Amino acid sequence: MKDTTNFPPLKNDNVLRAARGEPVDRVPVWVMRQAGRYLPEFQEVRKEHDFFEVCQTPEIACEVTMQPLRRFDLDASIIFSDILVIPQAFGMTVEMHPGVGPVFPQPLDTPADLAKLTPDGAVSRLTYVGDAITMMRHKLDGKVPLIGFTGAPWTLMGYMIEGGGSKTMSKAKSWLENHPEDSKKLLSMLTNGIVDYLEMQVKAGAQMLQVFESSAEHLPKETFLDIAVPYIKQIRDDLVERLDSQGIPIVPMVLFAKGAGHSLKEQSKLGYDVIGLDWTVDPIEARKEVGPNITLQGNLWPEDMYKTPEEIRALTTEMVKKFGKTRYIANLGHGITPKTPIVSMETFVDAVHNAL
Ligand code: CP3
Repeated sequence: MKDTTNFPPLKNDNVLRAARGEPVDRVPVWVMRQAGRYLPEFQEVRKEHDFFEVCQTPEIACEVTMQPLRRFDLDASIIFSDILVIPQAFGMTVEMHPGVGPVFPQPLDTPADLAKLTPDGAVSRLTYVGDAITMMRHKLDGKVPLIGFTGAPWTLMGYMIEGGGSKTMSKAKSWLENHPEDSKKLLSMLTNGIVDYLEMQVKAGAQMLQVFESSAEHLPKETFLDIAVPYIKQIRDDLVERLDSQGIPIVPMVLFAKGAGHSLKEQSKLGYDVIGLDWTVDPIEARKEVGPNITLQGNLWPEDMYKTPEEIRALTTEMVKKFGKTRYIANLGHGITPKTPIVSMETFVDAVHNAL
C-alpha cells in the first residue's frame, strides 16, 4: 500500500537547488503556515474535523497541504502537521483550543514528571505523518518538493512545561536554572525522538526538512548557544550518520531559530544548508554573518501582509533585491497570520517571482 520507491519526477526543484547553492530559474518561495486559517477552505475542513484529527488522517492532511498550492504559484509544499505531535507521541495530552492555541492539561511540573514520558518507540506512534508524506508525494505528482518538519528540543520543552504558548516561558526557564541536569535529560530525550522522527520522514519521502526553534526568542544569546544549539547540531549530525549507514542520501535541512538573529554565525556552522531568518534581521547583514555557502530563507514581516498590494509588492521587491538570486528562498519571517487577505499572498508570491 505504501509505495515509497516510485515517486513521480520533480518538475520544479528550485527550492532544492537554492538550498544546495545551485542556479535557479526563478527565486523560489513558500510560506510558513501556508496551509492554515487565512484560507476559507481550511476553515471549512476545521468545521468538520478537530485539529489533530486533520494531522492524524492522511487523506485530510493531504487535502489541507494541497489547498495553498491550488491558489498560489508556490515553489514548495509543507506537510500539514504540528510540532506538538512529538509531545503527544511521548504520552502527553495536547488539545487545540480555537482562539487559544495548544493546551496541555497535564504539563510537566517537576522533574519527577519526566518518568511519565514514554519516549521509547515514540516514532511508531507518528507513522501517520509518514503515511501523509508518502501519500502527498504521490498526490503532488512532482509539482513541487515536499518539506517535512519538527520542533527543536528547547521549543518543545517549553510547550511541555508551560502547558501551552507562553509570553515569558518563565516556568521552562526556571527548569533550566533550577534543574539543569533534568533539563538536559529532557532535551536529550527530545533530540533522540526528533532524529527518529526525521529519519522516518525522509524514508517516507520528505525532500527537505525544517527544524523550528520558534522559542529561541525567549533565550539570551549565551543560553541559546548553551542549551539550544548543541541539540540542534546533534539532530543534524545524528541524522546524517543514521541515513548514511543505510545508504540513504540526506535531504537539505533548514534551521529556523526565531529571535536568534544574534547568533547567525554560530547557526551557519551547524551543518544546516539553509538558515531561516525572522523579520528583525537585515538581509545584507545576515549574508555577511553566514558567508557565501549558506542559503538564507525569509523574511518579510507577517504584519506587512496587511498593507495594500502596492506596498506589499514594493516591500517584497526590495527584500528580494537585497537577498539576491543566489542561495535564497523567499518566505515570511514567521508564520502567516489568520486574517491575512488572500490577495496579499497572491501579491507576495508574484512579487518574489518578478523582483529580479
Ligand atoms: O506551515 C504549514 O502550513 C504546515 C503546518 C504547521 C502548523 N503548525 C499548523 C498549525 C506548522 C509547520 C506548524 C509548526 C508549529 N506549531 C510551530 C512552529 C512555527 C511557528 O509558528 O513558530 C509552533 C510553535 C506550533 C505550535 C502551535 N500550533 C501553536 C502555538 C498554535 C497556535 C497558534 C496559532 O497560530 O494558532 C498551533 C496551531 C496550528 N498549527 C494551526 C495550524 C494551521 C492553527 C490551529 C487551528 O486550525 O485551529
